Amino acid sequence: MREETLIDNVTKEERKLFKYIVASTFFFFVGTVHGVLQILPPIRAYLDSIGSPYGGPGHMIDPLAHAHINVIGGVVLLCMAVSYYLVPRLTGVKLYSTRLINYTFWFTALGITGFYSTLLGFGIVEGNLLLAGQTEQLEVVHSYYKPTIAIVSFIMGMGFWIFFANVFMTAKKVYRTWREEN
Ligand code: HEM
Repeated sequence: MREETLIDNVTKEERKLFKYIVASTFFFFVGTVHGVLQILPPIRAYLDSIGSPYGGPGHMIDPLAHAHINVIGGVVLLCMAVSYYLVPRLTGVKLYSTRLINYTFWFTALGITGFYSTLLGFGIVEGNLLLAGQTEQLEVVHSYYKPTIAIVSFIMGMGFWIFFANVFMTAKKVYRTWREEN
């Protein structure tokens, strides 16, 4: 049985990419459930009453949290995995760093988890304070939102920049190798 299920010549590096697919599928699941919930009339009415999609706490939940969990959690993580898989296969040259495959994943996945939870959490708390007319307390809570969203945005940004660096350094290695071959 085991023999049939295994595919030959899957490299150790390529196995590191499986977690990208699992995480991307999970983030799409969260994003699609979020998408359906935010269209249900009572939830839609709540989001509209706190400013969605134009501004205020509602804007944090719809479209910001919804857009980014799907686009970054779903699409971008998948694109990163496909790029890391295809570059060595297309060029015949190993990636500049395999360690950066894991750093890219954890910074991006933890970053988008933090970014989404911050937008959703603060969006709901601030939305309820807005509806209760507690504007002073809302300002206090929002003063914690700004540094929090900045920190998780930086972590998520690091995931992107490590990925860009790894691809660009690999491209440099690829062209040098191709030049030497000629
Ligand atoms: C580190 C990465 C990123 C950070 C920190 C980030 C942060 C933000 C923030 C703060 C806004 C809201 C601006 C406002 O107040 O209206 C925004 C809007 C948006 N972002 Fe990003 N973003 C990132 C990457 C991306 C990527 C890669 C995409 C698409 C491929 C994307 C798609 C969008 C869209 C579509 C909006 C507009 C949502 C709307 O108001 O309709 N973002 N982003």
